[in-house]
Parts: sequence; C-alpha cells; structure tokens
Amino acid sequence: MELEKFSYDNRIVRNFAFATMLWGVVGMLVGLLIATQLFAPELNFSIPFLTFGRIRPLHTNAVIFAFVGNAIFMGVYYSLPRLLKTPMFSKLLSNIHFWGWQLIIVAAAITLPLGITTSKEYAELEWPIDIAITLVWVVFGINMIGTILKRRESHIYVAIWFYIATWVTVAVLHIVNSFEIPVTFLKSYSLYAGVQDALVQWWYGHNAVAFFLTTPYLGLMYYYLPKAANRPVYSYRLSILHFWTLIFIYIWAGPHHLLYSALPDWAQSLGTVFSVMLIAPSWGGMINGLLTLRGAWDRVRQDPILKFMVVAVTAYGMATFEGPTLSLKNVNAIAHFTDWIIAHVHVGALGWNGFLTFGILYWLIPRLWKTNLY
Ligand code: HEM
Ligand code: HEM
Repeated sequence: MELEKFSYDNRIVRNFAFATMLWGVVGMLVGLLIATQLFAPELNFSIPFLTFGRIRPLHTNAVIFAFVGNAIFMGVYYSLPRLLKTPMFSKLLSNIHFWGWQLIIVAAAITLPLGITTSKEYAELEWPIDIAITLVWVVFGINMIGTILKRRESHIYVAIWFYIATWVTVAVLHIVNSFEIPVTFLKSYSLYAGVQDALVQWWYGHNAVAFFLTTPYLGLMYYYLPKAANRPVYSYRLSILHFWTLIFIYIWAGPHHLLYSALPDWAQSLGTVFSVMLIAPSWGGMINGLLTLRGAWDRVRQDPILKFMVVAVTAYGMATFEGPTLSLKNVNAIAHFTDWIIAHVHVGALGWNGFLTFGILYWLIPRLWKTNLY
C-alpha cells in the first residue's frame, strides 16, 4: 500500500507572523503617540489627522484587529492542521483571508485619521468595510470548518472548541451590531437608537473582549503552553468545564459598561451578577494554564518563551479578578471615567494578549524559519 503524503502550509503562518509584528509595532507606536498627547496635547502639531480623537480609535483598531487579529490567525493556521493531522481546507481561501484582512486594516488606517467613523467604540469602521469584514470572516469560517470536516484525527482538542466559539460568536456580534442605514458611500446611521443602541453596542463591545481577546487566546494557550513547557495540560476535564461555563456566562455581562446609565436597573444588575460569576470560569483557565507548568518551573527561570507565557496567564488572572470588581456599582462609581479602566484594559490587552503573542512568536519563528533566536 502506498503511503499518503501531505504537507502543512507554513507560508501562510509566516505571512500572518509578519503581519502580526508589523501591525504590532504600528499599533503600539500610535498608542505611544496618544499617550504622549495626553501629557503634551500640542504633539498633534495642529494636524487634524493626528488629533487624539481620530488616532485613539486608530490605536484600538490596530492593536485589537490588526495585531491581535493577525496573531490569532497565525496561531490557528499553525495549530489547527497539526491538531487535525490534515492540511488546511484550501490554500486559496487562506490567501484570500490573509490579503482580505490586510486590506481591511489598510482601509481602517486611512478612514479613521480622516474622521470617517460610525462612532461606535471598537466598531468604528464604516459600512463598506463592515461588509468586507463579514466576507473575510466567512472565508475564514469555510476554511476552518472545511479543515475540521476532512480531519484524520477524530478527537477535537479543546483548543479547537475555543476557535469554533470565536468564529461563531464574532460573526453574530459583528453582524447584529453593524446593522446600519447607509446615507452615503462613507456615512451610515445605526439601526438602533437611544438606550437600545447602547445596549447592543456594549453587548458587542464586551463580547469583543470575550470572543476576540479571550476565547481565541485560551485556545492558543491550550496549544502553545503545553508545547513550550513540554508538559501535558494539567486537567483536560477542567478545560472542557471552563470552556462551556465561560461562553455561557460571558455573553450576559455587557451591561456592566452601562452602570448608572438610562439602561433599566434590572439589566444593569444582571450584567453585574454575570460579571461576578465570570471569575470562576476565567480562573479555571488561568489555573489550568499555570498548573500545566508543574514540573517545568525550573525552566521558567531561563526560558524566555515560558517567561512571556507565565506573565500572560498571570495577567489574564489579574484582569479577570479586577473586571468583576469593577462591575460592582459601588466600585464602578469610583473607577468609571478614570485611568483605572485604562489600566484594567491594558493588563488584559497588553499583559494577556500582548505577552502571549510575544511568547508564541518566540516559539514559532525558530520553527518556521528553521533558525535560532537571535
Ligand atoms: C506600547 C503599548 C501601548 C500603549 C503605549 C498604549 C497606550 C494607550 C493609550 C494612551 C490609550 C488611551 C487612554 C485614554 O484615553 O486615557 C489606550 C487605549 C486603549 N488601548 Fe492601548 N496601548 C498600548 C498597547 C495596547 C495593546 C497591545 C492593546 C490591545 C491588544 C491595547 C488596547 C487598548 C484599548 C482597547 C484602549 C481603549 C480603552 C478604553 O476605551 O477604555 N493597547 N492605549
Ligand atoms: C471576568 C472578566 C472581566 C470582567 C467582568 C470585566 C469587566 C469590566 C468592567 C466592569 C469594565 C469597566 C466598564 C466601565 O466602567 O467603563 C471593563 C472595561 C474593559 N475591559 Fe474588562 N473585564 C474582564 C476581563 C477583561 C479582559 C481579559 C480584557 C482584555 C483582554 C478586558 C478588556 C476591557 C476593555 C477593553 C474595557 C474598556 C471598554 C471601554 O470602555 O472602551 N476585560 N471590564
């Protein structure tokens, strides 16, 4: 009998890795510029394109959708075929996904400084770009689900459950929150009004945190942390349990962004209750990550990859303890509209997402380019 031969497409992973690094540098430099402007506003040089109000959303879009987004795709396109022991479903779809996503990023980088915006936080991009995002997301979905369907490994490892949850939920969030009525090619108005608009917006906004910054990264953690530590996952049972509880609870927590607003009081309390419950599944993930390092802690002292990953998982634990605390009305009364929220954001986004990305890059690059770390 002839042995069947197949190879994994590493080129697409390398492309996403390049894009991650490029947009990471751009997004964080823009972060540095707006940070400096908070201290010295004249650093906008009186140029409208460089004013804080226009480039702050450029920072958030660049770091979330360009840096973290490309890192997710890099991590998925490397781990998914290996976990399923089959190449990706379609090289063509992989390439459309890659170039389509970069085109969307370029469109964002042009329109946001021009002041073209829907003004919905984390969903600022105008309707033609929204449609492009939907199309590229569908391409990603077909490619991922196609790969799962033609797999040679019957068990679907927990990382893949997190990838699937990411795909399904981001699709629903993006489509529902982007219902808008175009008035010109680059201007639209949300289909929702008043407090409904706010509720839909923060249902989306909070779940962008949940399903763009958290579930894909937990999936990546479950693949790359055991690989880097060379240890099995501490508890597979816990990973399944915290997966289902996390995705069930997260979706209800959005109203904690609207405390003391015109949103009915019961809805605000509901958001708080679900936010407090979120500690359990979030810490389930953090604990499972840290305990996977049992027996490998001596290597954390020398190994830069493990160092980055330990900080990432610890930051995830801190952000998901701080978040529920901030969702209590008495704490939120003090913290909302202060730098505390910005600090919370960056413990999660820079600590958890940033450091895990750096760790994964340091693990992947020597393997992708068959070289040693510089
Ligand atoms: C060098 C690294 C970074 C710097 C210097 C930086 C700086 C900043 C600054 C100055 C703001 C505005 C704060 C304000 O309005 O008071 C901000 C907001 C924000 N940044 Fe960053 N940032 C960095 C990295 C990141 C990363 C890696 C992410 C995500 C993966 C991120 C996500 C965000 C988000 C979501 C906001 C908006 C927060 C809110 O509206 O509450 N940042 N950043
Ligand atoms: C158990 C998990 C979490 C809960 C319950 C939670 C809760 C909260 C609360 C109450 C706020 C403040 C809302 C306000 O007063 O404006 C907030 C803001 C925010 N959190 Fe979290 N958080 C959690 C985890 C995370 C993680 C892991 C990240 C990032 C990876 C993150 C990113 C953000 C962002 C970006 C904002 C600012 C949104 C904005 O106003 O622009 N959170 N979170």
